[in-house]
Amino acid sequence: MSDIRSSYTDDINFYRGWSARSLAERYGTPLYVYSEAVLRARCRELMAMCPVEGFGVNYSVKANTNPAILAVCREEGLTVDAMSPGELYMDELAGFGPDKILYISNNIDPEEMRSAIARHLTVSVDSLAQLELYGSLNPGGDVMIRINPGIGEGHSDKVITAGKETKFAISPELLGEAFALLEKHGLRLRGVNQHIGSLFMQPDGYLKAAGILLACVKAFPRKLRDQIEILDFGGGFGIPYRKYDGEARLDLKALGEDLARQCEAYRQETGYRGRFLVEPGRYVVAESGILLGRVEAVKNNGENRYAGTNVGFSVLVRPAMYGSYHDFEIYAERQEDRPLMEQTVTGNICESGDVLAKKRLLPEIKEGDILGVLDAGAYGYAMASTYNQRLRPAEVLIREDGTLQLIRRRETFEDLAAALC
Ligand SMILES: Cc1ncc(COP(=O)(O)O)c(C=O)c1O
Repeated sequence: MSDIRSSYTDDINFYRGWSARSLAERYGTPLYVYSEAVLRARCRELMAMCPVEGFGVNYSVKANTNPAILAVCREEGLTVDAMSPGELYMDELAGFGPDKILYISNNIDPEEMRSAIARHLTVSVDSLAQLELYGSLNPGGDVMIRINPGIGEGHSDKVITAGKETKFAISPELLGEAFALLEKHGLRLRGVNQHIGSLFMQPDGYLKAAGILLACVKAFPRKLRDQIEILDFGGGFGIPYRKYDGEARLDLKALGEDLARQCEAYRQETGYRGRFLVEPGRYVVAESGILLGRVEAVKNNGENRYAGTNVGFSVLVRPAMYGSYHDFEIYAERQEDRPLMEQTVTGNICESGDVLAKKRLLPEIKEGDILGVLDAGAYGYAMASTYNQRLRPAEVLIREDGTLQLIRRRETFEDLAAALC
């Protein structure tokens, strides 16, 4: 029997013949469910987006670091970044060697820098102070620098990472000082990277920033410019979160073709033979993940109807943290059509801000329903916490052939106590 609201996942055969309800029953909720087929499709789309020699996709693993997910990305030919020793650890667990990992650092301590150098990683530094630290620890080594192109974009101020108000990157005015530090420590400038922010649906800002980066590098002293092997334009590619409103996709192909034109022109003008990278996180994994939760209590408080679930912001923080929109599916036997009504969907955390969706027009949600939070594969589990001492959920991967693989077990109380002394 069909579900109350499931046409999106039905159409793309997300569950590969399983029902969301049976997965919830088998593994419990909350539960992150991933589709290998969707993940591979996104990887392939990205790998094919930019028809220029040397093009590559460097997956920004902060979006989702489960090694089983990373291994699929590796098989599809993506490389990865790491921005902490923990991310590096996960990259290595998934089988990425040092030549496939860019260490994109921010405000790291000498020990972390030493460890990245000892592992022969390419490190990108984003301040003069960290360039000085790198040079003092690894004189004569290879390094990348992160540049601020002066424009930023993103779905929230919290994720705009370039422009006037940002802690990230080196301003172009300070490049002279950066070059002097390269000289002082005999460093080779292996590459240049940037990242303007997270989640844009129109390509203009990204393309403009790519043009700024290329123009900036073109103006570098010839000796430095000729050392460069990596030009990394960053990520930020948005996905349509409003699935049931038919939100349009970012035109990745048009973006890629425009980017390819700029890269090709740069290649022709400078004789560059290195790599051109994009660095998406969200676009790779967001749509491959759905978070299943259970509706525990429905009530009316004042004017509002609340559907209380076990998906608190400890499990998915994006709505509470950024006001982000996620669409829902409702899995329950459709015995009759349920009326549409405004409902506020909440979690089980002891804070009023624990809201997944405010006054959303949805078919009536009832206790015992399984709720599917769509597009939860990016910045979902990766940002989960144990706040209120709630246990972090399990993760299941549905393989392309329909087999289920538990890729992370649900936490236990012993996990909560594991680091206590
Ligand atoms: C340096 C860098 N690259 C790439 C990304 C990926 O961003 P997104 O997931 O929006 O593609 C981030 C996200 O913060 C980042 O900081």
